[in-house]
Amino acid sequence: MAVCVQDNRFDIVTKNTLYQIKADEYGVLCHLWYGARTDCHMDYLLDYPDVGFSGNPYDVGDKRTYSLDTLPLEYACEGTGDFRTPAISITHEDGSTALDLRFLEYRLTKGKYSIPGLPAVYADEKEAETLEIVLKDTASDVQVVLKYGVLEQADVITRSVVVTNKGESAVVIKKAHSLCMDIPYGDWDWVHFHGRHTMERQMECAPLIHGIQESGSGRGTSSHQQNPTVLLCEKDCTENAGFCIGAALMYSGGFQTQIEKDQLDQVRLVMGIHPKTFSWKLAAGENFYTPEVILSCSVEGTAKLSQRFHHVIRNHVCRGKYQFSERPVLINNWEATYFDFTEQKILDIAKQASELGIDMMVLDDGWFGKRESDTSGLGDWFVNDNKLVGGLQSLIGQINQMGMRFGIWVEPEAVSEDSELYRKHSEWVIRIPGRMPVRARYQLILDLSNPVVVDYLYDRISKILSENHIEYVKWDLNRSICDWYTDRLPQDRQMEMPHRYVLGLYELLERLTHDFPDVLFEGCSGGGGRYDAGMLYYCPQIWCSDDTDAHERTLIQYGTSFFYPTSTVGAHVSAVPNHQTGRDTSLKTRGIVAMAGSFGYELDLSTLNNEEKKEVAEQVKKYKEYQKLIYEGTYYRLSNPFEDGMAAWSWISKEEAQILVQGVVYRSASNTLRRRLRLTGLNEHASYKESESGRVFTGAALMSGGILLPRLTGDDAAFEITLIKWK
Ligand code: GLA
Repeated sequence: MAVCVQDNRFDIVTKNTLYQIKADEYGVLCHLWYGARTDCHMDYLLDYPDVGFSGNPYDVGDKRTYSLDTLPLEYACEGTGDFRTPAISITHEDGSTALDLRFLEYRLTKGKYSIPGLPAVYADEKEAETLEIVLKDTASDVQVVLKYGVLEQADVITRSVVVTNKGESAVVIKKAHSLCMDIPYGDWDWVHFHGRHTMERQMECAPLIHGIQESGSGRGTSSHQQNPTVLLCEKDCTENAGFCIGAALMYSGGFQTQIEKDQLDQVRLVMGIHPKTFSWKLAAGENFYTPEVILSCSVEGTAKLSQRFHHVIRNHVCRGKYQFSERPVLINNWEATYFDFTEQKILDIAKQASELGIDMMVLDDGWFGKRESDTSGLGDWFVNDNKLVGGLQSLIGQINQMGMRFGIWVEPEAVSEDSELYRKHSEWVIRIPGRMPVRARYQLILDLSNPVVVDYLYDRISKILSENHIEYVKWDLNRSICDWYTDRLPQDRQMEMPHRYVLGLYELLERLTHDFPDVLFEGCSGGGGRYDAGMLYYCPQIWCSDDTDAHERTLIQYGTSFFYPTSTVGAHVSAVPNHQTGRDTSLKTRGIVAMAGSFGYELDLSTLNNEEKKEVAEQVKKYKEYQKLIYEGTYYRLSNPFEDGMAAWSWISKEEAQILVQGVVYRSASNTLRRRLRLTGLNEHASYKESESGRVFTGAALMSGGILLPRLTGDDAAFEITLIKWK
């Protein structure tokens, strides 16, 4: 049993961790512990200081040391004496916003709960248990159910919330976060992942200051600018030692992560849908379901924490035929041709690629409608006869005959004003009457909160997929969303739209992935603008970034690796000078960096000389040889590329029989010693043979003394070392 209940104390026990909460004598649900297993009642850590200006609930009588403002709470409310940031905020019919949630009952069930309309971690009855704790407001009929999904062996706990209106009149939810966790002790840094288009998930680590620090997105998508993931690390936490907690919100819309350090140096972490672009009117008898947060913690540093997230995302989030199976090596024509291609050009690229061992031709933007540039055509998901004279079927037939599979790009959520669809259905676009809408990349957004639009898109896309032998879809979205308004909702429900949009998107993806189980869906939003566990439920891989520069990719992929496994990272070798940065890197470096993900190419292979083509063929062969290790092996970051002047990473196979170490040294220097790289995750008593030199080292030597990297010349020089277990 992963959950033990005694005297209203709940012990959620996983293989290596303990999460403990209790409903105290007043029914207040207190957070006691999240960390290493202690086999102990952790309520001895609860302190009840007498803090001035921290008031006391009426029902505690004269106990002036009992304050909701100082206790570590499991789901913090607003307006009843806890002055820290709340997890929930509700406006009652009379306009008041106070809520005081107290324990009512609990339920324990086998298996993992699911969430209506939203993606969620899945697990069978042997793998998971669900704890539900029901809380009730002291003065109204608002109830809140806190759900905990416990994946014992995976050391993962999920959290989500159901808000229920058991009263007679409607209430308005202004904020309903999925996670609230109070941590009374410790000295913490927080780590989040910020960025921009073509530079996503840059790792940033900062000490907590008093007050609220936050990351989030109000862009309608999880965004390039911030990622819905966060780490709290104790000061002495490193890759391989020390305590850290990680949280990933499984949601693809606007989100908020807030961390508050309070007057007593206690830390509160809350995470959920961003209140800036959310409000929800909950009529009598209705439920509101929040998305869920995936939680884990580690006493052995961030490597272990990342590995736990990799495991849960690969095994309990990603689904479908391609969840585990080997993925095709792709050639994508975007950076090779942009909008300027003909059928013959695509066939030439495919032919060249097939000769080098590449598996699938992906036809990117420009194959449909009047799409000669990014100013027109979006929405018209009919073949562009100017470019593809024989239509899709003939093109795919010829490509299949080469032994290549075929995939296609779509951006269903967007529409160009210069399109048949817009001319016919301009009312489907998100905009506010009397106000000109914001255009981004010249395009507008279709209102996916409207079921008619979702049905239309389903019909269009499913027609293309059923009429053509398409085995892969790249699902893109190239702008942020604003101008929220719909005449389908009354005035006081307008801000339900951003969440309803995400629900519409999920429904569309669910229907398509269900009805076309053999198609590999790759997520994309101008690269990694919607790289989150929600999208990974439908798409087992995501185009990591529109930045294909190998040097910058090492930084982007480093940040991505903290939560997301390499099997989810779409990565391609592109041309030099790189189209985003103008930087030259060797084909070897580009190959090694793209191999740390779902591998492919994105350049005109016919421009390569014979030697380079040979190198491409060898890379493809090598990738196929190592794909299982790269997808299933345990991943280690071996350097911090922001500090160490190099990026280095490794995978160790499950049986520890095979180790692949790769990396890039950023700058060369004259007259230096060779660099030494310490490996991690090996068995110190075993010995390992380096394939190239044939030299045998002990695990202890490789982890303490490290391995000397080859003498490298030139900037951004890549290295690769393979080891096999010897004894
Ligand atoms: C986005 C994607 C690119 C490419 C273009 C096409 O930017 O991330 O890979 O598909 O759109 O317009």
